[in-house]
Amino acid sequence: MGDFIDAHSRDKKPLNLLRGWPHPSLLPTPAIASAAQTVLSDPAISIPGLLYGPDPGYQPLREEIARWLSGFYGGQADAERICVTGGASRTWRVFSDPLFTRVWMVAPSYFLACRIFDDAGLVTGAVGEGDEGVDLEGLEASLRDAERDEGVRKIKLAKPWSKIYRHIIYCVPTFSNPSGKTMSLSCRQKLVRLARKYDALIITDDVYDFLLWPTSKSSSTSSATALMPRLVDIDRTMEPVPSSHSFGNAMSNGSFSKIAGPGLRTGWADATPIFTYGLSQCGSSRSGGAPSQSTATMVCELLKSGAVGKHISQVLIPAYRKRYEIMMAAIQQFLLPVGVTVGEVSFGEQEIFGGFFIWIELPKSMSAEEVCSTAKERENLIVAPGRLFEVSGDASVRFETSLRLCFAWEEAEDLEDGIRRLGKVIRDVGEGKSIASRHAGKEIKNDLGEFR
Ligand SMILES: Cc1ncc(COP(=O)(O)O)c(C=O)c1O
Repeated sequence: MGDFIDAHSRDKKPLNLLRGWPHPSLLPTPAIASAAQTVLSDPAISIPGLLYGPDPGYQPLREEIARWLSGFYGGQADAERICVTGGASRTWRVFSDPLFTRVWMVAPSYFLACRIFDDAGLVTGAVGEGDEGVDLEGLEASLRDAERDEGVRKIKLAKPWSKIYRHIIYCVPTFSNPSGKTMSLSCRQKLVRLARKYDALIITDDVYDFLLWPTSKSSSTSSATALMPRLVDIDRTMEPVPSSHSFGNAMSNGSFSKIAGPGLRTGWADATPIFTYGLSQCGSSRSGGAPSQSTATMVCELLKSGAVGKHISQVLIPAYRKRYEIMMAAIQQFLLPVGVTVGEVSFGEQEIFGGFFIWIELPKSMSAEEVCSTAKERENLIVAPGRLFEVSGDASVRFETSLRLCFAWEEAEDLEDGIRRLGKVIRDVGEGKSIASRHAGKEIKNDLGEFR
């Protein structure tokens, strides 16, 4: 029976609803080719592009990003707030100390961020999303508890360009990876107040903000402006407005990974000018200049020519909106009848959705891991169990009956079939026909490094 199932499963087209990458057809390859041609044929750009860059990054790109962000989020453009990075994944080490700094991750959490904090020797704790995006009460209790820990030492010596924060709070406030949810405005404001009170640095990955569309419930049309101010914008403008010498309490990670191509490995950090300068003084940038210097020259060209904005509005938003609608319709048809529920997508009033992911809840007490391993074995289908998005080392916030579904990677035409197969698996597992007996105690073995 088992062999029959496996052979049968292999005949099915493999489908991966775990992978959080853009489908290859959504890469702006011709625009990148043209930008590369422009920069490489002009020595005034190619020579600085191929040499070591300045610590905060290629200056024309800093200026372009600042201008572009002010169009999207509002506020004054200020290139001094922008530091070019190698993507959203590795920007804040200067401001933490393994002995002194505690990290609080809003969970379910972008799972690969856990490893980044772990690499920096930082201890992570979990805090739930609560009713509005962060369980503020739970978070404050944890911050208060940690404050009682007196006599904490620091490993790092004080540097004039940096500040070691006592706490880091990490979250993806808009179209979260993995929950798809958006934190309410009032929760954002309260979170900034809390960060100011407890000497915390809020790090937000704002990498999905540009990918937004109205849901079928909405009467509004597509928007070329942000759904919500980032936490960094709130920190900059909320009374008492921080002085120009302040490091501030929030930084935003932006990235060209989701809106141009992850292989470009180019992003930006946005924070106060003094914080941004500190960021640029990290050891690797002092030694080698800002990361991604040569791609920064191409990305600058893409922004300057309007190609990024055009790609977002004319290609990505229509494509992701269509994929989202296909997946939601399939969820309605194949998953709701087997007891699945889809959470509220927004903690506020908006009827706007965005990003790459839909988070679903299985029928009560059904194991997500069992569903995932059965889906892989029987349907050649990969889905992400909620367990992946728990904070490593802190089992206080669990997601044993949740799944994350990504609509960005597979062909749009295959999304319905993927959800249909998942519905069949959930029905089978509900009827006790899973493969759990053959795999008792064995965890689904995904190569996490391959999936984002
Ligand atoms: C929330 C979040 N942060 C960061 C990243 C990685 O971003 P980058 O490619 O810019 O390092 C991802 C990619 O999936 C993500 O979802």
